[in-house]
Amino acid sequence: MKVLAILYKGGAAATSEPRLLGTVENQLGIREWLESQGHEYIVSDSKEGPDSDFQKHIVDAEVLITTPFHPGYLTADLFEKAKKLKLCVTAGVGSDHIDLNSAVKKGVQVLEVSGSNVVSVAEHVVMSILLLVRNFVPAHEMIERGDWQVSEVARNAYDLENKVVGTIGAGRIGYRVLQRLLPFDCKELLYYDYAPLPEAAAKAVNARRVEDLKEFVSQCDIVTVNCPLHEGTRGLVNAELLKHFKKGAWLVNTARGAICDKDAVAAALASGQLNGYSGDVWNVQPAPKDHVWRTAKNPLGGGNGMVPHYSGTTLDAQARYANGTKKILENYFEDKAQEPGNIIVGLGKYESKAYGQR
Ligand code: NAI
Repeated sequence: MKVLAILYKGGAAATSEPRLLGTVENQLGIREWLESQGHEYIVSDSKEGPDSDFQKHIVDAEVLITTPFHPGYLTADLFEKAKKLKLCVTAGVGSDHIDLNSAVKKGVQVLEVSGSNVVSVAEHVVMSILLLVRNFVPAHEMIERGDWQVSEVARNAYDLENKVVGTIGAGRIGYRVLQRLLPFDCKELLYYDYAPLPEAAAKAVNARRVEDLKEFVSQCDIVTVNCPLHEGTRGLVNAELLKHFKKGAWLVNTARGAICDKDAVAAALASGQLNGYSGDVWNVQPAPKDHVWRTAKNPLGGGNGMVPHYSGTTLDAQARYANGTKKILENYFEDKAQEPGNIIVGLGKYESKAYGQR
């Protein structure tokens, strides 16, 4: 059987660090295993346009492995060409780069390695909140420049204690963020999610649900986005919603770039409506060199904590999602039941409730 994997190029780092498993060079560590069973394994980072390896090989691949860090966009058009495709595996979490409605229509299953990197992301969220609130990046840049003017950075530095923090999405990552924020003695922890937390879980983190999104954001000093990208969340944080944020609020998005409107966020930061924006996800990946989020700043010249998409691909996470990918393939080859929590689209229907209310 033909297995196609679209991964990111690791270059010299991947050659010297074999634990960078999610790269073209290290191939999720499954080449030998796949080939020993007689399967063909094609691995490439070439994913854009009709001449890409992705589009060339998708026509007769039975299994497609992709990663959110370098998404191979499997559009409705490509689904038409993928005549033999039966299984899409996301090495990681977040399958919005696959047209899930087409997968349902075509009877192609979509699985993720659920949970594999949720702690990695939750830690990154807490770090991003802190670096924005404490104005860390400009303070570090000042030191590198050789300057020392405490007031320049202290004038926009605050404590996280006594602030209101809210998460859009209180699933695996959102909930872990709330758990990790508990010892910071925030004023309140809020969440917005169409799926309410079980009572005991909400109580354990002392979180209050707000059902109206505008009301929710208007109560938060810090908003963190932790829901999947789907029809109901694309452009959710747009110019209109940003007006309802508290003036000078901080926004952290490690979920998906396209959940936040690129230009509206940049404008809100420039005007000071947002005091900071931080995250690792971009509406297009890799992000173009002139992407406005690379350099957007608040009126005091700070408030930007953007990094490339890597929060969920720590070496610890890579080990987990490489193992999880192998386990999903093993189940598929041996016709064994898959872990229910990993199934986003089963045969002809959504199994996950996280990709929108249907
Ligand atoms: P999950 O499925 O455990 O939780 C998602 C939650 O979002 C669910 O509770 C769901 O009800 C909620 N949700 C869905 N639509 C919503 C809406 N319109 N409004 C409010 N809540 C909504 O997923 P998990 O593991 O927490 O991951 C969430 C997302 O984080 C992934 O889909 C992915 O896009 C992103 N992610 C990013 C990574 C990174 O490296 N930056 C790594 C892993 C995940």
